[in-house]
Formats: sequence, structure tokens, C-alpha cells
Amino acid sequence: MSDITVLGIFVADISFSGNKIPTIGETILGDSYNIGPGGKGCNQAIAISRLGGQVNFISKLGNDEYGKLAISKLKKDNIDTSNIIISNTHKTGVAGIHVDRNTGKNAITVVRGAPASLTVEEIDTNIIKKSKIFLTQLEIPREVTLHCLKAAKENNLINILNPAPACELNDDFFSLVDYFTPNETEAEFYTGIKINDEKDAKESANKLINMGIKNVIITLGEKGLFYSDGKEEIYIKAMPVKAVDTTGAGDAFNGGFSFALLKGKKIKECLEMANKVAGLSTTKLGAGDGMPFLKDLS
Ligand code: RIB
Repeated sequence: MSDITVLGIFVADISFSGNKIPTIGETILGDSYNIGPGGKGCNQAIAISRLGGQVNFISKLGNDEYGKLAISKLKKDNIDTSNIIISNTHKTGVAGIHVDRNTGKNAITVVRGAPASLTVEEIDTNIIKKSKIFLTQLEIPREVTLHCLKAAKENNLINILNPAPACELNDDFFSLVDYFTPNETEAEFYTGIKINDEKDAKESANKLINMGIKNVIITLGEKGLFYSDGKEEIYIKAMPVKAVDTTGAGDAFNGGFSFALLKGKKIKECLEMANKVAGLSTTKLGAGDGMPFLKDLS
């Protein structure tokens, strides 16, 4: 039994860090690279586990070198891998990531591989029922995500949806979600409201709440975050850090938030902890590899 079930993808992130992100047709000489765990679901699972939460990760991998890398990395981080499906017909996915070392900003292409073929029939929802929190994103086929959100809600789990990458969602999704955690770009996709300041974030959160979502957390990058449940509103500034790679910062936030919620912390404390985990995650190259441990937070 795990405290938190995470449904999502694993991909091998191949990150290149250099003085800038190359433009089209340009070749630059970079200065470092990292091959490590990526995929939003995988990164979120690692973040939770490094904080001390018991995590069950539902995913799909290919029967290949990167699939083996996934299992060994996840096991090293004490993540329950018994519900990961191994496909003999699909490859493990890969993401190519360019990172600007001066700002930590990135450009990513993800080829999902095996988890893009995940079906509802392959999911054993009994596993989800044994957890307290269900956390997922939108890198898995939508019908599978919806099926799992329904199973989780029928069994009174807290559902957290990190709606990334942004894509069209029907109303069923919104009614099943307890916490909806877009970044400012994703929030704009769902609401049409461009976020430049706290006032825009508030307007965007209100619109999402009117769409049926109970709690909205909009992460605002270096500006921090905005939370609303329609009554209480909280704005928190980002933790000041020297960011070298912001890849996975949103995943760190979602992992940190889920863990804090599991521990029964009040909403403001959950947001503060998540904000700190996200900030610390940007100080190292790599998404999964950059997740902080509980001891790093003190
Ligand atoms: O959120 C960051 C992640 O998005 C990366 O690890 C990349 O693999 C993509 O899935």
C-alpha cells in the first residue's frame, strides 16, 4: 500500500546545458549534459519519495535500455514499480532538452514512446484505491487519465491534476479534480486570460472555479504562485534561487504539494513547502535527478 499513486510517463531526459538555447539552423557548443529520469509523472513520483512519501508509480515502459534505466532509478528512489507495464512492442520514450544555463529556461521535445499506447484495460484500479492521494498530469492518453480519476474519486481519494501539457478537457475532468495546478501558460490555455500579475491570476483562478474545479493553484514561475478555493486566496512569492535548470520545477511543486497534503498540513503550509521544493529543484541540472531530499529543505 502506498500513500500516493502517481499515474504518468517516464522518459529518459537528455539535457544539454549551454550559454543559450540554440535557434533554428544554429549549432552551439554546450558545456554539460545529463541523461536521467524525466517525464512529469516520474519526476513527481521522485519528488514525493525523496521527501519521505510512499509512492506507487503507474506507467508503461519499453523492454529496452532506457526501460531498465527507469526501473533502476525508480527503485533507487524507493518508488513502488510493481504497477509499471513493460511492453515488448513499444520503446521507452525520450525527451530532448536544451537549457540556457544563465536563466535555467528550457525548450523540450518529448517523444512519449510506450505510455502513449496505455489503455484503460491495462490499468488495475485496485491499486489506486489503496492510496490516499491520486496525482496525475496530461502526458498519458486522456481516457486512461479520466478512468483513473473516476476510480480515485469513487474511493474518496484526493485528486490532483497537473494539467500539463495543456489540452482540451471535457467537464467530467473538472468535476473530479480537487486541486488543479496549471502554470500561467496552461491557465491561459484553459481560461483565455493572459497572466501578467496577481490580479490576472485571481481572475483566471475564479474562471477555473466557475468551471467546477474546487481548488486552483496557478504556478507563476519566478513570480511565485496564486491559490484560490473561491473564498480563501493566497499569493506566495517564489523562493529566491540561482536557477541552473528549471526543467521539472512544476513537477517538484506538485510532488511537494501532494506530500504536504498527505501530512495533513494546512493549505498555506502545503503551498510554502511546494514552493520551496520547486525552487530547490532548479538549482541542479536534470528534472528527476534535480529533486531535493527532505533534509535539503531545512
Ligand atoms: O516537466 C518536465 C518534464 O516534461 C521533463 O522531464 C520532460 O521529460 C517532460 O515530460
